[in-house]
Amino acid sequence: MSAINKSDAKRITVHVLQSMKANGEKISMLTAYDYTMAKLVDAAQIDVILVGDSAANVMAGYETTLPITLEAMIYHASSVVRAAERALVVVDLPFGTYQGNSKEALCSAIKIMKETEANAVKLEGGREILESVNRILSAGIPVMGHLGLTPQSINKFGTYVVRATGNEEADRLLEDAHLLEDAGCFALVLEKIPAALAERVAKELRIPVIGIGAGGGVDGQVLVLHDMLGMTQEFSPRFLRRYLSLGEEITSAIKQYSNDVKTQDFPNEKEQY
Ligand code: KIV
Repeated sequence: MSAINKSDAKRITVHVLQSMKANGEKISMLTAYDYTMAKLVDAAQIDVILVGDSAANVMAGYETTLPITLEAMIYHASSVVRAAERALVVVDLPFGTYQGNSKEALCSAIKIMKETEANAVKLEGGREILESVNRILSAGIPVMGHLGLTPQSINKFGTYVVRATGNEEADRLLEDAHLLEDAGCFALVLEKIPAALAERVAKELRIPVIGIGAGGGVDGQVLVLHDMLGMTQEFSPRFLRRYLSLGEEITSAIKQYSNDVKTQDFPNEKEQY
């Protein structure tokens, strides 16, 4: 029996991403956390939508990604999955749902896959989470790795500065990247590391390497949607290119609406029954 999905032929799968890397075609990835924005991202033919735990910052206003729960991630992910017709949807396992307990990691990943119908999960870390990665993969759930700056470990790092600038940390990152590939991860995110190191990882690995603040020598790029649209203003790292100043435009439109209400310009004759 085959699954019913009218748009299967157009869908991006983990295999499509692997052949994109093999053919030298760059992969585009953006975050989304809700139905309306995910529809727009999908319509723009973005290859991968990441339901990132950056939802903790962007949607909920927390300072770090640590407080977001599995239930909240499932709410965001199921909204995104309902919108995405073409993009592969990857969901972050939130802090505390997979580290140090591979059985809990598997349960968390299964809950996400069952309740959202997303296509894959993403986990932060290398050798220290390998048992969890293996266990999730054994259930047939595709896993995307995430190395470099891993925001769930912010309390260990202390700051959000560039990672792996020294030889020891760079060597460890390279080893971890190979371990994740050998385990069976279908792709890897590298966040905020030197461009030369990221390029070396991308060259050595067969799986696609997607960068954020990791230069142009990797197989694709990811940004947080609200940052690249200029909806968030307080966050301005060097790697962020803003394509719009949507925050300013939204505030200006809302001010105009408020003014129209107060001056009784809105609603006019045509805008009533
Ligand atoms: O949560 C997120 O948005 C991420 C990206 C920054 C890669 O993990």
